[in-house]
Amino acid sequence: MCGIVGYSGFRRASEVIIESLKRLEYRGYDSAGMAVINHGITVEKKRGYVSMLKGEMEGRTGIGHTRWATHGEPSDKNAHPFTGCTGEFAIVHNGIIENYMELRKDLVKKGHKYASDTDSEVIVHLLEEGYAEHKDFKKAFFEMIGRLRGSFAIVAVHRGENRIMAVKKESPLIVGIGEEENFLASDIPAFLSYTNRVVIMEDGEVCELDPDGISFYDFQGNERKKKTEYVDWTPESAEKSGYEHFMLKEIFEQPLAIENTMHTLFSNDIDLPYYGRITIVACGTSYNAGITGKYLLEKLLGIPVDVYYASEYRLRPEVRERSLVIFITQSGETADTLVAAKIARKRGYETVGITNILGSSITHHVDHVIYTSAGPEIGVAATKTFTAQLAALYYLGAALGEKYGILSQMKCDEIIDEFRRVPRLIEKSLDYEGTIKKIAQKIMNSENMFYLGRGMNYPIAMEGALKMKEISYIHAEAYPAGELKHGPLALLKEGVPVVAIVTRDETYDKMLSNIREVSARGATVIAISPETEIENYVDYRIPVPKNSAMFSPFGNTVAVQLLAYHTAKLRGCEIDKPRNLAKSVTVE
Ligand code: M6R
Repeated sequence: MCGIVGYSGFRRASEVIIESLKRLEYRGYDSAGMAVINHGITVEKKRGYVSMLKGEMEGRTGIGHTRWATHGEPSDKNAHPFTGCTGEFAIVHNGIIENYMELRKDLVKKGHKYASDTDSEVIVHLLEEGYAEHKDFKKAFFEMIGRLRGSFAIVAVHRGENRIMAVKKESPLIVGIGEEENFLASDIPAFLSYTNRVVIMEDGEVCELDPDGISFYDFQGNERKKKTEYVDWTPESAEKSGYEHFMLKEIFEQPLAIENTMHTLFSNDIDLPYYGRITIVACGTSYNAGITGKYLLEKLLGIPVDVYYASEYRLRPEVRERSLVIFITQSGETADTLVAAKIARKRGYETVGITNILGSSITHHVDHVIYTSAGPEIGVAATKTFTAQLAALYYLGAALGEKYGILSQMKCDEIIDEFRRVPRLIEKSLDYEGTIKKIAQKIMNSENMFYLGRGMNYPIAMEGALKMKEISYIHAEAYPAGELKHGPLALLKEGVPVVAIVTRDETYDKMLSNIREVSARGATVIAISPETEIENYVDYRIPVPKNSAMFSPFGNTVAVQLLAYHTAKLRGCEIDKPRNLAKSVTVE
């Protein structure tokens, strides 16, 4: 996944582009570059972060890119933009050009010389070919699109023009509308400090933009009318606002993220038919939300819920079952999830997408969309979008329980009442940051960790281990606490930290015996629990507030997030941009 931007207006383009790219760095950060139209086209590109770009060029129109390498190693030569043989065009690309090998061969035969190992570079050479024939940027752009296979968001400029041409197919691209200036970007935060008026491009659309106007076309060149939307995200929502890292800010934004998500959920009707079975499909953190959803929905609805990694769902043979299929993806752009959604639809299932991003790709591949309203999440590690996904699943459980006549009105009201108290529960859990910091000091030098939970808190243990691995690079594994003795216990050594999530429900006594098992082998046990009694059995306790077991995942999530954050910080890790990772993974 990469981040791309385009700007045409009255400001110095290089400054706008650098600022916008910094806000897109969560999408990729192994190299960055920009091209600005002035007397010709001036390009600056480098391996490394956006902050390495100087941006000292004149010009009011330009494009930019921040890369997460797929084809070709991260290097100066593979950084975008590409300017081809003549230097008349510059392009940036997000996605994969599947037929680039055959295009490249063909273009080399025609005399084109390549400067990089990327699939993207063919785009600019195709533009040159088209322009040589038609002497028209727009015609050359449409012709180029016709030759490409794969997924692409492309933004291109031509020497001597303040016009930008752009296209979207299966990679996101949003237009920002300003006064005498217009913007293009992979995601809204890129231009949020200039405008909140946006047009969301759909697959198969082309955009022609300059400071005075914007036109949209289909791939055949027919003009399309598009709706302008207003986003209620503030520019500050895409800033660190005094926090040292986006991740920490986003952890602390969770009460607001849940409140806003509740508002969205309460004001939209959820009308999903009964199928007697639910399948949830997702990746990473969204998958962990899916497993929590399984425990919850099975409990509330009494119907079976299966959860699949999206990359595995596609391997599943067609089976004879009737099921509602729910895809969870905060970005709405994860390639594996999108492929799975297409497969499910093709097989005739009724599908639902839960996403945080307005108009994202998943919304085009499902029958029903449920939005979370967590606001922009910039840190690569998902935090507030996870609890917002949980909120959506809890609400879904109550709403469907009522609609299907499974839950009594009274039970439903009880759940919703408690649901409304979640933001406060999270606020109280955030109060224990000081305790968590101290515990992080004790575990910061560990090489391995275990996370244990049972029932609904097993997926929260999974999420805790994922957060710890992802940002602190400590090897952390989660187990349903009962499974430990069936093998993994052999790995336990003196001093290995074991995080145990202990809730006062039917799992409580069993969790206590599991804690004794690991303590007896010398593990350092950290309990996340509202029960003071636990202190008799463990080394440290994170005292999350007392709450019903059903809603305990919210407070416990905050504890595992903060523990990962402070451990990673003490280890001096790049918290918002962990090595080898990108915010959403748009390759399969
Ligand atoms: O955008 P999605 O929810 O589809 O993303 C899925 C995963 O790539 C994502 O949750 C990933 O695991 C996070 N970086 C974890 O913090």
